[in-house]
Amino acid sequence: MADRWMLLRDPPDHTRLRRLVNKAFTPKTVEGLVPRVAEIAHELLQPGLKDGGMDLIEAYAFPLPVIVIAEMLGVPAADRPKFRAWSNALAAALDMYWTEEVARRAADATGEIWEYMSRIILERRRNPGPDLLSALIHAHDQGDRLSEEELIAMAILLLVAGHETTVNLIGNGTLALLTHPDQMELLRRQPWRAAQAVEELLRYDPPVQMTARIVAEDVAFGDKLIRKGDLVTAVIGSANRDPEANADPDGLDITREEVRHMAFGGGIHYCVGAPLARREAQIALVALLKEAPALRLACESPLWRPAVLFRGLASLPVALG
Ligand code: HEM
Repeated sequence: MADRWMLLRDPPDHTRLRRLVNKAFTPKTVEGLVPRVAEIAHELLQPGLKDGGMDLIEAYAFPLPVIVIAEMLGVPAADRPKFRAWSNALAAALDMYWTEEVARRAADATGEIWEYMSRIILERRRNPGPDLLSALIHAHDQGDRLSEEELIAMAILLLVAGHETTVNLIGNGTLALLTHPDQMELLRRQPWRAAQAVEELLRYDPPVQMTARIVAEDVAFGDKLIRKGDLVTAVIGSANRDPEANADPDGLDITREEVRHMAFGGGIHYCVGAPLARREAQIALVALLKEAPALRLACESPLWRPAVLFRGLASLPVALG
């Protein structure tokens, strides 16, 4: 399955797959989602506000992007627990702690999600709707279309990406603000800074910490020779703290004029979901600060998930009242 993901393809396959998904996943689609994202954020906050506290990951940062991507793709809400289990199993296989157990769980999840998505796509071919899956089914470009298998793999890639990344932007971002109360207050008073603040939070604690490439030809890098066929891991978290890219890189400053970061990667594989992730995080953070003026940490040190590639919190208990 992963072999069909554009994330892991070179041109010309990558170019073709990306052009087709771009046709369906446009900035206009994302802007059209804004009112619904705001509505979901508001609804998710209400139980926590009533109870005076919540686990911000479980109750807010996780469900928000998951509901959005599930509604976008047009997959049934009742199946969300299954997506979560499949998505976690696949994400674990992309990470660095590779054990037989991780591989086995990912293989099982692949079989199940593949079968599930094939069924939904078949159904959507018969009854197209205003959703992204229907758009992908009908996307064509210069005579190209997605093959059935590419279509299934693409839908799965979008679903997994929607589960494992934005949750951590909202979670890591909220934690960064909670531990820098002056910055949190500033954003609360000046919500028009949301776009700039999210760039700084993407830089400060990026949800995807690294990416890898297999080197296509020998290259000199500093005083090292990287040979054709070598595997290179680029650490995004480190690039984002490069003092040559941003002054005072270890400080959090949501008023930085030009934030330079690699959180969405770079080059031809630059994140397709970046406009969506940015808007979701901007809306989620502004809604949280506006609706919960008493927001504060309710634990000494929150727990991180045991992962290297996807950096995010297992839980973030907060008090709201
Ligand atoms: C804050 C949230 C997100 C972060 C930090 C993030 C990060 C990244 C990074 C670093 C890459 C490049 C990987 C590489 O070069 O090896 C990437 C690619 C990609 N992302 Fe995201 N992502 C986020 C959200 C999303 C969302 C919401 C979606 C879709 C629903 C998405 C879909 C994709 C896809 C399809 C690619 C592959 C693009 C290609 O190969 O051309 N991402 N993302």
